[in-house]
Amino acid sequence: MMTSYPSAIKKVQVLLLERLAGIAPKMAPDTTSTADALATLAVSTPDMKEDVKPLFTPTRLGDYTLENRMAMAPLTRCRGLNMVPSKAAITYYTQRAYPGSLLISEGTPISQAGQGYPHVPGVYTDEQIEAWKPIVRAVKEKGTIFFMQIWHCGRVSHSDYQPDGGAPLAPSALRITKGDVYTPKGGPYPFPEPREMTKADIAEVIEQFAQGAENAVKKAGFDGVEIHGANTYLLDEFLKDETNHRTDEYGGPIENRCRFVLELVKAVVDRVGAGKTGIRFSPFTTYYDCSDSHPYGLFCYLLEELNKLNLAYVHFVEPRIQGISEAKTADSLAPFRAVWKGTFLAAGGFDREKAIKAIETEHADVIVFGRHWLANPDLPRRFQLDAPLNKYDRDTFYTHDPVKGYTDYPFLEDVEKSESTKAQD
Ligand SMILES: Cc1cc2nc3c(=O)[nH]c(=O)nc-3n(C[C@H](O)[C@H](O)[C@H](O)COP(=O)(O)O)c2cc1C
Repeated sequence: MMTSYPSAIKKVQVLLLERLAGIAPKMAPDTTSTADALATLAVSTPDMKEDVKPLFTPTRLGDYTLENRMAMAPLTRCRGLNMVPSKAAITYYTQRAYPGSLLISEGTPISQAGQGYPHVPGVYTDEQIEAWKPIVRAVKEKGTIFFMQIWHCGRVSHSDYQPDGGAPLAPSALRITKGDVYTPKGGPYPFPEPREMTKADIAEVIEQFAQGAENAVKKAGFDGVEIHGANTYLLDEFLKDETNHRTDEYGGPIENRCRFVLELVKAVVDRVGAGKTGIRFSPFTTYYDCSDSHPYGLFCYLLEELNKLNLAYVHFVEPRIQGISEAKTADSLAPFRAVWKGTFLAAGGFDREKAIKAIETEHADVIVFGRHWLANPDLPRRFQLDAPLNKYDRDTFYTHDPVKGYTDYPFLEDVEKSESTKAQD
């Protein structure tokens, strides 16, 4: 059944308003008419396939309106020699900037102590901030909304990264027993035992996140920040009970384990505004000895508290994803989606078909793509045309070459040109 254009707009507007007021159900029972309503609202190109239109409909994201539901995931690429963004990053990000989409930067440490991987650019020195500026300018010129993911690696680090050569910071002095760490001096090294953070350390890190957000938005020009609360790094380590064994007000019951994250988010919001602040979580990641015994209870409580702040968005990693690997699971993001009153982003294992379905069924408001966008600078265009995708090359994910595996993935026109040349030969 087709819905008329004005009534379709009305339906989506009413749904959006009710969603914002927190009274709309998150899962639309009637998915066919939702799909129809979305399709009529699509910001179409003449050659866009009909089925993909739900992905090209507008939605709100804090202070901004996105023209489509596709976001590029934060992707560490280790191309920032000496922890400063490279010139090649201007090309890399501009290639992937699509008008009206959200682009999230690679995880960007807010302090030297927050580093944990070689050649990751930070946002805590004047040199780094200056080097981000032309990247941000070039991306925004394309009409893309650009958020910086701000990051502290916590105990997923090494004394080589620490300004005093000491132990990395963590909620508790628990060493990661599996896996290893690389530093600019070499590796693989086993993870060292971290140091339990004092109250003064906690206050200092919160201030560094607030300052990092200010540097990103007010100095470098980003549209907003995404706080990295996922993937077993510092914030996740405070939240989950396998890594947080504290006996003070930052450990123990759920309310206490959430305290650090909530204080940190409020500090960032105070500095740059709620409409420019998002946060990422991965309730089901378990690697690096960082799991939680009750992820649904923990993250539903956290969302109830975050609902009070009116953030631009929350961004959840699907349970099927463990970092960059895939696993089978019966877990689901649905309970978090149901609790959250604002814009909900989902990432992990999405292809074109799964993404369209996820928008049509209101599984999420925006779908975030990692590996496919890394390998396909023009991913939205390829989805519009249902064109084949370049394959990603895992071997060059984290290497330091400014071109290979970074800026040399071909655009669709280049693939088509080279195929037609081959056919003529
Ligand atoms: C090369 C690479 C680097 C990544 N770096 C980050 C990062 O800096 N921050 C983060 O939150 N997730 C990071 N991730 C995880 C992705 O954001 C995403 O959650 C994951 O790739 C699953 O999505 P996909 O199936 O669409 O690739 C990285 C993934 C890859 C492949």
